[in-house]
Amino acid sequence: MVATTEEVLELHGRVRKCTACPLHLTRIQAVPGYGPATARVMAVGEAPGENEDREGKPFVGAAGRLLTSLLESVGLDRRDIYITNIVKCRPPRNRDPEPLEVEACSHYLDEQIGLLRPDVILLLGRHALQRLLPGAGGISRLHGERVRRDDRVYVPLFHPAAALYNGGLKETLEADMRRVRGYLADAEATRARRAGGASASDLRKVAAAAGGDQMDLVAAAAGGDQMDLF
Ligand code: URA
Ligand code: SF4
Repeated sequence: MVATTEEVLELHGRVRKCTACPLHLTRIQAVPGYGPATARVMAVGEAPGENEDREGKPFVGAAGRLLTSLLESVGLDRRDIYITNIVKCRPPRNRDPEPLEVEACSHYLDEQIGLLRPDVILLLGRHALQRLLPGAGGISRLHGERVRRDDRVYVPLFHPAAALYNGGLKETLEADMRRVRGYLADAEATRARRAGGASASDLRKVAAAAGGDQMDLVAAAAGGDQMDLF
């Protein structure tokens, strides 16, 4: 069962009215999240910046443009992805969110994940990594890796804003995104296998289109036990 648009909009409405932490005092508006209720991929950043605060949508500034082009470079359309942040209101002067703010806001993100139940969650930067995979390790070790927890796939990535002025980091981010495409193909195949519908040849087509790991997918189609697939 995927979320309905009404459920997601109801949550967004509560976020827009929220006064649970001091960030509501300095915001222009809260930025709940953006994307279809049916999205299979969620991206989680840190906090809204100046442009986001003004427009009410996540990742609409320079970092957002880089995110869009990174997604497009591996054949993903930003409009298919649900994008949100750890905290929903802009911290003054873009300072890091404080622990109490993260804590006050975190139930909204939990609700978003619970509603959409995405196959893959992209963790953009160390704040998202710390919040959703506490204790897993640092971003420099985990970036681009597929981390499975609670039946869900997480992929920590460097934050696009950090890559804006660092060419080396941008190349790393591009390489990591290419791996994400394969992870998505695997996740899709697993979902199809669980639904019991897809044949091995369907899965091979998905894998070939996405450059994913064909052997894993064929094993999945054959019902090959858990096979360490997920
Ligand atoms: N950086 C973030 O972490 N989130 C946004 O929404 C924009 C920039
Ligand atoms: Fe509420 Fe989160 Fe905004 Fe704080 S940051 S006021 S908890 S929506």
